[in-house]
Amino acid sequence: MDRKIKLLLIVGSVILASLVVIVVLCVHFIRKPTLSLTFEPAPSKGAFIYLNFRDRDNINQWTSRLDDFLKPYYHETGQSTNLKYCEQGIPPKQNSDEVCDVDVTHWHPCVRDTKYGYTSIKGPCIFLIFNQSPEWLPEYYNSSTVPNNMPQYLKEHINKVESKDGVNSTRLRVVWVSCEGETPVDLEAIGPLQFMPSFGFDGQYFPVIAKEGYLKPLVAVHFEKPIYSIVIDVVCKAWARNIDHKKGQGIVRLALLFDD
Ligand SMILES: *[C@@H]1O[C@H](CO)[C@@H](O)[C@H](O)[C@H]1NC(C)=O
Ligand SMILES: *[C@@H]1O[C@H](CO)[C@@H](O)[C@H](O)[C@H]1NC(C)=O
Repeated sequence: MDRKIKLLLIVGSVILASLVVIVVLCVHFIRKPTLSLTFEPAPSKGAFIYLNFRDRDNINQWTSRLDDFLKPYYHETGQSTNLKYCEQGIPPKQNSDEVCDVDVTHWHPCVRDTKYGYTSIKGPCIFLIFNQSPEWLPEYYNSSTVPNNMPQYLKEHINKVESKDGVNSTRLRVVWVSCEGETPVDLEAIGPLQFMPSFGFDGQYFPVIAKEGYLKPLVAVHFEKPIYSIVIDVVCKAWARNIDHKKGQGIVRLALLFDD
């Protein structure tokens, strides 16, 4: 009898201990910074965007998805009025209830009025979204810490800003963004790109503040002159010293096919 109870106690303790370990692990993983890069318009499955400029239904499907996604950014979801135009690289004060605006309305041609470029020969746009957890703060690059595999135009941009405004410039408080073709063929097919509002997610949006109306930072990527009728594999990356692409942080792949 006694032995049975002992055994039960031991088994019970082991089960309890295992549960505690599982819960602790779960909490650990849930709280880990996510640091993911996503894009819109997102296909319902996978990462393949097919735009047929002659097919109105096809185009409407993508533009209405963007219309919905961008509603808060066009201030159409009845947010409170704590939106503020923030200075470059400077987040709102910690105790204020202000939230920095993400002014997508000026990112021509990636705007609603021109259907995000999905009807014109100017080339279409996608929007990159940076998702991070509240406690995360970027460690920004300067010209002496930029990694070798960073695209040349970003390195040059950082050098230029630094030699003009100094190494402590708020203009270097940016999580830089790049998009490139995956292969030499893709590199050629993708054509020139324009990034809006600039080459990355501005430091004013970090850290995430759990406040009503917080808008995740966006970067619009305008494909100015992509080659049509072939699938273009694209890889986009967000760059800060504490974003590890090898761990899948801040990196997203998508495939584009444009037809007319
Ligand atoms: C560049 O950044 C690194 C890492 O944050 C820092 O140690 C270094 O002092 C910076 N360089 C200059 C010139 O300030
Ligand atoms: C940049 O900031 C660091 C730390 O605040 C300071 O020690 C350094 O002198 C500054 N450098 C310049 C060029 O202003």
